[in-house]
Amino acid sequence: MSKKVVTDLDVKGKKVLMRVDFNVPMKNGVITDDNRIREALPTIKYVIDNGGKAIVFSHLGRIKTAEDKLTNTLAPVAKRFEELVGKTVKFIPETRGKALEDAINQMQNGDILMFENTRFEDLEGKKESGNDPELGKYWASLGDVFVNDAFGTAHRAHASNVGIASNIAETAAGFLLEKEIKFIGGAVDNPVRPFVAILGGSKVSDKIGVIESLIEKADKILVGGGMMFTFLAALGKNVGASKCEADKLDLAKDLLTKASGKIVLPVDTVVTTEFSNDTPFQTVSVNDIKEGQMGLDIGPETLKEFTNIISTAKTVVWNGPMGVFEMSNYAKGTVGICEALANLNNATTIIGGGDSAAAAIQFGYASKVSHISTGGGASLEYLEGKTLPGVACVDDK
Ligand code: 3PG
Repeated sequence: MSKKVVTDLDVKGKKVLMRVDFNVPMKNGVITDDNRIREALPTIKYVIDNGGKAIVFSHLGRIKTAEDKLTNTLAPVAKRFEELVGKTVKFIPETRGKALEDAINQMQNGDILMFENTRFEDLEGKKESGNDPELGKYWASLGDVFVNDAFGTAHRAHASNVGIASNIAETAAGFLLEKEIKFIGGAVDNPVRPFVAILGGSKVSDKIGVIESLIEKADKILVGGGMMFTFLAALGKNVGASKCEADKLDLAKDLLTKASGKIVLPVDTVVTTEFSNDTPFQTVSVNDIKEGQMGLDIGPETLKEFTNIISTAKTVVWNGPMGVFEMSNYAKGTVGICEALANLNNATTIIGGGDSAAAAIQFGYASKVSHISTGGGASLEYLEGKTLPGVACVDDK
């Protein structure tokens, strides 16, 4: 069933509560990647351009102690948001109370207000993360309608998404949430075939659900990244000092059996002796990894084979880098996959969040794929075929 979208709402003169995911990476108070803010702008602009009052809020990090509040204030994020949206953003450093309520009541049509990190409410009893009924009701009372555009948080049932939605007259998806549903939901539910999935990242254990789901749905699953070594070890190969989850060998074997040939493993790897970009490295066959050698990337033969398979695809979903792309010696596999996706014509190419999304953006491929998800955990759970509470809470059309 299709979901109500912001364009289905009459926002003129309305106080529009807008849940976004501005949980952006920061280093010493400086935002290192503002993609999530940029991706939320079309919905916010739509609301203000159509005479709505945009009340924007998000979580940032996880708040367990009073000190966490100091390092996770949304103040610097509001500043960046203001620069990007090109309009004044009134930041209220509260999550409830008179100052916030007065500021909302003083808003004019087209104004933007942002309030403080929703998880500041977690300090006394996990009110936000535990979807405290009183909190969801209170936040809902601050607005007339609710727009959820926080795909990155859609796998959470928190007060600021599900809680508000169950206490307000109307809930619609923002354009970002709509896009994520269209691309990831479309690939999972109705892929144009051949459907090729590419999985990487360090651990099999992080991706068991996704692999199981993709075994059912995809035509091929290309496996790279650290997790390839658990699969190779499960086949009895020596993986030297490579990352390998010894307690997941049986699981990896089972997955290979269930996949009956759909899982394609690397034939070569780039090895070194220390987790460093400064030690000598070489390409070896996966049959020739020596004691003390660790594989940190897929090799060129593997990349060739993966690229061939990708070139036949009509739908591609990629989650997890092929190697330690942060080190230049081990970035070729990940860059090569970006290139293979970029070269595909007439295919839908989706990068499912997290590190592979960061890599595609860093290497300049963002505009060359159909969609880069803003979700990490959310896109993984969506790929697993799970119902996401933050999507389910949006009204059906
Ligand atoms: C994310 O970055 O994956 C989302 O913002 C959710 O954050 P969380 O894992 O802390 O709930």
